[in-house]
Amino acid sequence: MSDDDAKIEIHRGLKGVYFDRSRVCYIDGRAGELRYCGYSIHDLAERSTFEETCYLLMKGELPTRAALDAFSAELRAARILPPGIYDIIRTVKSAHPMDVLRTAVSALAAFDAEVADNSHEATLRKGIRLTSQVPMIVAAHEQLRNGREPVPPNPKLSHAANFLYMLKGAEPSADAAKLMDIDMVLHAEHGSNASAFAARVVAGTEANLHAAITAGVAALSGPAHGGAAENVMRMAQQIGDPASAAEYVKSKRANREPVMGFGHRVYRAEDPRARHMRAGVERLSREMGQPQWYQILEALVEAMKPYARHGVCVNVDFYSGVVYFLNGIPEDLFVPIFAVGRVPGWTVQVLEQFENNILIRPLTLYNGAEPRPYVSIEQR
Ligand SMILES: CC(C)(COP(=O)(O)OP(=O)(O)OC[C@H]1O[C@@H](n2cnc3c(N)ncnc32)[C@H](O)[C@@H]1OP(=O)(O)O)[C@@H](O)C(=O)NCCC(=O)NCCS
Repeated sequence: MSDDDAKIEIHRGLKGVYFDRSRVCYIDGRAGELRYCGYSIHDLAERSTFEETCYLLMKGELPTRAALDAFSAELRAARILPPGIYDIIRTVKSAHPMDVLRTAVSALAAFDAEVADNSHEATLRKGIRLTSQVPMIVAAHEQLRNGREPVPPNPKLSHAANFLYMLKGAEPSADAAKLMDIDMVLHAEHGSNASAFAARVVAGTEANLHAAITAGVAALSGPAHGGAAENVMRMAQQIGDPASAAEYVKSKRANREPVMGFGHRVYRAEDPRARHMRAGVERLSREMGQPQWYQILEALVEAMKPYARHGVCVNVDFYSGVVYFLNGIPEDLFVPIFAVGRVPGWTVQVLEQFENNILIRPLTLYNGAEPRPYVSIEQR
């Protein structure tokens, strides 16, 4: 290593590195605060809807009533999947739903007449189309892999209610639709998280929105990012009853393994999104006569209290997986649901990247072999 190399500071995982400015998402990890375009996530979760939040993210302002109606109509009109996409879903239907979603989003590029147009207006239109198409892909796959035909969208239903309708083939209760709507608001955007960063890296090369969102879906599929909700539910099932939670945490920590649904790259306080889903778990597990799930989660929070002092607190996925489970949604659809909510966030990140585009190309410090002569294959 040269003297110059020794002076280089490496930021593994780009921890704490600012790579650009953004006017979309404000996160204060220490205080546990999150805002979209200046609006508190708590106000949005309690008072907004997915459609309104989507408008806010994509256009930067809350809509008037007329603007929201027009935007919602645009989202509903975009609930169309080309027949070729259904064929692709059929072909790969036995794969994990995230692999199916990634494949189908990538394939949508072939059917979108504006695919190569990276102008602001066309990218926004494509973002709106993808926002409506991603839930259709997830729902169609769920039907097809169970030997049923996809359920056509219902133009009378909101984004969240229609997603549940297409997924289950029956109109959801108002409460179930509202909880899914809140879940989507909470997941709509989250700054330069791994999937949004992946989308920005792709957009940085001037590739198109479909390519960027395909990368976003790929990055989201890992357990350290979107996969946590799925793992939290498995963990709750494995623990089985609240009295075993402390022992579970002890053995995980003894093996230096993370407890799923805790910890976050940015938050050192409780993830501000968690409380809105916690209320949902509490209510649903009580109403459905399965109070053990809420009790197990609360026992885990109690057992993790010593780590909370060091900034390892619950994140949104800790509760959202159990909400999906209590709604009868299969575990492997938990991450795709996150993706359904996140399309507006990916879109707006790509829009910002295109506005003032630059190739994202950091450096790695070489620590491999010293220069050495090439030896021909016969002499190795
Ligand atoms: C999300 C996550 C990858 C963030 O990791 P990170 O920013 O790299 O943070 P680190 O892994 O450096 O953690 C810092 C410290 O907290 C501890 N920690 C982090 N997450 C933890 C968890 N879930 N359970 C127990 N301890 C945890 C680490 O062991 C580390 O302790 P150490 O300094 O003694 O080694 C990590 O917290 C995790 O794997 N969580 C579980 C998966 C999850 O819920 N993901 C969803 C995120 S929304």
